[in-house]
Amino acid sequence: MQDIIKQLDAKRELARLGGGQRRVDSHHAKGKLTARERIELLFDEGTFEEWDMFKEHRCNDFGMADQKVPGDGVVIGYGTVNGRMVFVFSQDFTVFGGALSEAHAEKICKVMDHAMKVGAPVIGLNDSGGARIQEGVAALGGYADVFQRNVMASGVIPQISLIMGPCAGGAVYSPAMTDFIFMVKDTSYMFVTGPEVVKTVTHEEVTAEELGGAVSHTSKSGVADLAFENDVEALLMLRRFINYLPLNNKERSPIRPSADAADRLDMSLDTLVPENPNKPYDIKELIIKVVDDCDFFELQTDHAKNIVIGFARMEGQTVGIVANQPLVMAGCLDIKSAIKAGRFVRFCDAFNIPIVTFVDVPGFMPGTAQEYGGIIKHGAKLLYAYAECTVPKITVITRKAYGGAYDVMASKHLRGDVNFAWPTAEIAVMGPKGAVEIIFREDKGDPAKLAAKEAEYKAKFANPFVASARGFIDDVIQPHETRKRICRSLVMLRNKKIENPWRKHGNIPL
Ligand code: HXC
Repeated sequence: MQDIIKQLDAKRELARLGGGQRRVDSHHAKGKLTARERIELLFDEGTFEEWDMFKEHRCNDFGMADQKVPGDGVVIGYGTVNGRMVFVFSQDFTVFGGALSEAHAEKICKVMDHAMKVGAPVIGLNDSGGARIQEGVAALGGYADVFQRNVMASGVIPQISLIMGPCAGGAVYSPAMTDFIFMVKDTSYMFVTGPEVVKTVTHEEVTAEELGGAVSHTSKSGVADLAFENDVEALLMLRRFINYLPLNNKERSPIRPSADAADRLDMSLDTLVPENPNKPYDIKELIIKVVDDCDFFELQTDHAKNIVIGFARMEGQTVGIVANQPLVMAGCLDIKSAIKAGRFVRFCDAFNIPIVTFVDVPGFMPGTAQEYGGIIKHGAKLLYAYAECTVPKITVITRKAYGGAYDVMASKHLRGDVNFAWPTAEIAVMGPKGAVEIIFREDKGDPAKLAAKEAEYKAKFANPFVASARGFIDDVIQPHETRKRICRSLVMLRNKKIENPWRKHGNIPL
């Protein structure tokens, strides 16, 4: 009996070594943690329960029959993060470069199936050379099995990908279908085709880092949400991030009580908006001053900076924040910002997270680049997302809300539940100057007359009272009481229930 127990310990020891000490050392030399070290950091101490530690591949081609490593290059299981259940798969680069075999894919599918059964998030720690080349189509089939599960789990349980090494070829499409992608700087990259293929096909010379590194994907493509300095920072931030989310689409986010009073006033907000309407200010200052403990977890910080998205809490309850950023492109909506915010709104809606929208938007970005790029279709994504959304929606217009962008940004007409405006709000079809130049085109040669008309238009329309006279704005509030008013509204909306008509699914303009 004792011998059997010892054998088990020895077998476990062997499995824990993955691809062997030499490969582990070379992995560490790159500044990367092993698959199991990552799991240890991610989960609460001693809570990780591993499955399929002894699973092996079934490939006999290309000498693979003699090369079996228990676990087959991926560690799977579940544990708790800050006391809440989370499932994980962590690819082990020291075993065949973390390449995905049929058996490896079966392990990933197993955790996904269990996570769906019990309603808990799945975190994927990706570090893989892609499909196991020796297995051919069996590995491709394995990927597709994972893809199918990603789609079925979408909107049911949160799915988060942390890219901690290579992720190339078709392998990128599993993370792409998850809700959030985080990357580690310098050691991770994602691309559909690598630098060699790019050189052959388009004659571009580009490094792997330039093509698909963390900086490229968080600033240029917007594929990834955030980039972290190293494995440790990424895993610790992931622990913080998951605290904002519910375990599944039937639950609410956890309440994290805070000592920050719901009725806290912030007098400095009264002077946040500059007197000159063309002068920018930082919308993040407003966000930070309004949310619990000034704690704002911003996503996509370096992409489409003209719109700000992220999670925060109000009276301990998670809220999704969407805000135009006047500091960048005057806060205009363009293709990238509409896609960025539209996807975020849909995540919040799928997972019962109320949305607070701060509006200062002069309109949609004009120009051929935008029109040829399809701003009509992409701008519609954000409009569609807000209109479809049934979670509580609170909107605060701080300054400009012009034209179609007024409608789009969670207006009353798109079922905004509580729509506030600051006294500095300007809600109209367009800015006074543009409006007068069109209405009084015949007075083009008379600047004095145009100036008088502009002043008249401004006095009449560049304020929140025309909209509030119609009930499109529920109240004009003092900037300093913004937190209090939002907190009260959130309490009032806590049991909000509305349903969209039955349909198989809508047809969002993709
Ligand atoms: C089998 C693989 C492998 C793979 C790496 N290895 N990728 N084994 N299948 N796909 C093995 C290597 O043979 C090596 O084994 C070990 O992993 C580490 O690899 P190295 O090359 O030594 O590491 P490094 O220099 O860091 O380079 C990593 C790499 C490179 C960039 C990922 O290994 C690479 O280019 N691999 C091939 C990538 C690829 O073409 N994959 C298929 C993509 S197509 P030893 O024994 O020496 O440690 C695809 C289709 C998916 O994925 C489709 C889904 C729809």
